[in-house]
Amino acid sequence: MRNLKTILITGGAGFIGSHVVRRFVNNYPNCKMVNLDKLTYAGNLENLTDIEKKPNYTFVKGDIVDGAFIDELFKKYSFDGVVHLAAESHVDRSITHPTEFAMTNVIGTINLLNAAKKHWAGNYDNCLFYHVSTDEVYGSLGADGLFTEETSYDPRSPYSASKASSDHFVMAYYHTYHMQVMISNCSNNYGPNHFPEKLIPLAIHNIKESKPVPVYGKGENVRDWLYVEDHAAAIDLAFHKGRVGETYNIGGHNEWKNIDLIYLLCEIMDKKLNRATGTSAKLITFVKDRAGHDLRYAIDSSKIQRELGWTPSLVFEQGLEKTVDWYLANDKWLNDVTSGEYQKYYKGQYEER
Ligand code: NAD
Ligand code: DAU
Repeated sequence: MRNLKTILITGGAGFIGSHVVRRFVNNYPNCKMVNLDKLTYAGNLENLTDIEKKPNYTFVKGDIVDGAFIDELFKKYSFDGVVHLAAESHVDRSITHPTEFAMTNVIGTINLLNAAKKHWAGNYDNCLFYHVSTDEVYGSLGADGLFTEETSYDPRSPYSASKASSDHFVMAYYHTYHMQVMISNCSNNYGPNHFPEKLIPLAIHNIKESKPVPVYGKGENVRDWLYVEDHAAAIDLAFHKGRVGETYNIGGHNEWKNIDLIYLLCEIMDKKLNRATGTSAKLITFVKDRAGHDLRYAIDSSKIQRELGWTPSLVFEQGLEKTVDWYLANDKWLNDVTSGEYQKYYKGQYEER
């Protein structure tokens, strides 16, 4: 069991980051957790109100693209661990703004690696740089097969290209400088605090408002969904017990065609909102497909299951219902994040599509 003293968690105000921060702060009270986040449109400190006053938690607002600032932060806190989640994460935005993805996801990661290299120099043994990545780096599957840790990288969107590049830099610092690193590549997450630009929270929001639910193309694309707390648990396990220099694939063994998932969600929402069966499904609207839309992702997570004993805790129907309950109970959170800028984004992305 790795026993670190001061951990930098980047992107901790975002969707997955907030679940990771909460878990680390609660599970390791003797370890100081510093959450560094730029608070872009996707970052929200409301995600962390329950732990913000804990003595082992500190929030710092800042940009990982600012190398001098990152260097100062390492000097100030003497981190011995990094869990790096900060990123631009939405594929559709990467199609319209690829450079921003290269800056944050590639340059931001290099800045963190450089600061770690400088401040840990000669003392890598007691330090770990943990990089949170995605299954999208492996490209797109046909009808069969799974992504394993040995699958060749084949990124196809600006988002996945930037994540693949950052993964390569992390491994380059392992091989070249012997920095202690680890990477995990996870499938699609869902759950509370998910920004409603992504399929599940966007559909929940639109169904709730009785607005059209946009399904790209024919809804035939397949994703492998994992409840976000199960991903946070896997990161916790790998960070504390995983092998240095390794990659761990994390996934739910839970493949759904988008259209089937949306029908299931509509059924759940009809029940929760006391609507007649079939009401929400009438909102489904097929829209122009995403450019370069990857057909299918599916993860073989047998390595992390075998080596570290991790397994997903929730079946999808349970997790989806729990997620819907969270959104319906957190009206204010949803209203706050869908006002202002979001309206402009939504219009550009869907109404002018
Ligand atoms: P998110 O978009 O919800 O959150 C990203 C966070 O990073 C936000 O809080 C944002 O403010 C912060 N951030 C962005 N740019 C920054 C910068 N320049 N400096 C500092 N902070 C910055 O993303 P997410 O869905 O929680 O994803 C987190 C990580 O997990 C990402 O690296 C992503 O690639 C990876 N991932 C996501 C999924 C998924 O399904 N969402 C699956 C696998 C891997
Ligand atoms: O696989 C892991 C990845 O999953 C993460 O690395 C990314 O950060 C995360 O955003 C997610 O990427 P996807 O592109 O798979 O997620 P998204 O929710 O955007 O889309 C899921 C599927 O639903 C995809 O096939 C596109 C489709 N879709 C999406 C939206 C937003 C629609 O049909 N309609 C929509 O409005």
